This record gives sequence, C-alpha cells and structure tokens, in this order.
Amino acid sequence: MTTSSRGRVAVLASGTGSILGAILAAQASGVCAGSVVAVISDRPDAPALDRARAAGIATAVVRLADFESRDAWNDAMVQTLRAFKPDLIVLAGFMKVLGPQVVSAFAPIINTHPSLLPAFPGAHAVRDALAHGVKVTGCTVHLVDEGLDTGPILAQRAVPIPHGASEEDVHEQIKVVERTLICEVISNLLCTWR
Ligand code: GRF
Repeated sequence: MTTSSRGRVAVLASGTGSILGAILAAQASGVCAGSVVAVISDRPDAPALDRARAAGIATAVVRLADFESRDAWNDAMVQTLRAFKPDLIVLAGFMKVLGPQVVSAFAPIINTHPSLLPAFPGAHAVRDALAHGVKVTGCTVHLVDEGLDTGPILAQRAVPIPHGASEEDVHEQIKVVERTLICEVISNLLCTWR
C-alpha cells in the first residue's frame, strides 16, 4: 500500500508519543499498514512532535488557548486535518475531546484508551481502575464519537494488575499492549479498503 492509496494516517497526540513511536516503527518495518503523514498536537511542547520531526513527518499544533471558543478550535482542527487528506485519524494519547465538527468531517477516527471500556473512561483510567481494586484492566481501541471514550469498540486486550503495582507500572504494562493492538486495528481498517 502506498500513501497515495488509502493509507494516509494522521495521528493526534498530546504526550510522550510512545504509541506514535510504535506505529512509526511498525509501519517502517512493514508490520503495520499505511503511513503516518502528519502528527498534530494541542500542546506545542509535546514530545510526540519531536518524534514526528525526527522521522521527517509533518507536524502542526492547534492549541485550544489560541482560539476564542472551543468551536473555533474544532473548526481549526478540521482545516488542519483536511490539509493532510487523511484516510484514517488515530488519537494516540490525545487529551482533548473532539467536537462534532471534527467527528462528522472525517471517518474513521479511532482512539486508544487504557482501560477495558466502558469501565473507567476519562483521563485517569489507570488510577480509577486501581482505586476500584480491579484485578484485571486492559486497553480498548474504539471509534470516536462525540462522547468521552464512548464510541463503538473495535478491539480490546486484558492486562492483569499485579498485587501492589503502582499506577505508573500498570500504565506502562497497558501501553506495551496498546502499542501492538493499535497497529493491528490500523492494519485491519486500512486493508479492508484495498
Ligand atoms: C496511552 O495509554 C493512551 O491510551 C492514553 O494516553 C497514553 C499515551 O501514551 N490516552 P504515549 O504518550 O503514547 O506514551
């Protein structure tokens, strides 16, 4: 598959971008379909942007604080994404909820989340799972709708929580699984269109 066929992937990320890094590595080695053509962040200091630049991938920053309203920010996100003509948008640690303008302008948009949804949606999924004392958590890749981690589930994988494990340790265990699962889902979606 070439990026001129249906394989153009735009990634939105707010943080360290280790999942982005896994996607880039898997695509470079042919294990994951498609090519990341752009990485967009709401945070100018996101290390994910440095990873993209190091890989020669176009980047853009669309910062909520630069706009008068959330609507205006969502409109800017639509314009920014359109410029890259994505076939698939992947939220990989993107910590803002996208508005209806964005969700309806592109399909599909997928998100990876560090819990077995519908349990523990939101920004503190691992902390919440530990607080509830669950013994198994995991990760979910789902289609993005207008809600917070509410879209249809595409794939899930379980991760056991060892007794006494810290939030950081559990999150890292989950991310190990997320890095593989997101690549599998990307490949499944893109290859369905070939
Ligand atoms: C992942 O656990 C993702 O599910 C969550 O944020 C984390 C991103 O990790 N939304 P990284 O920035 O890719 O390392």
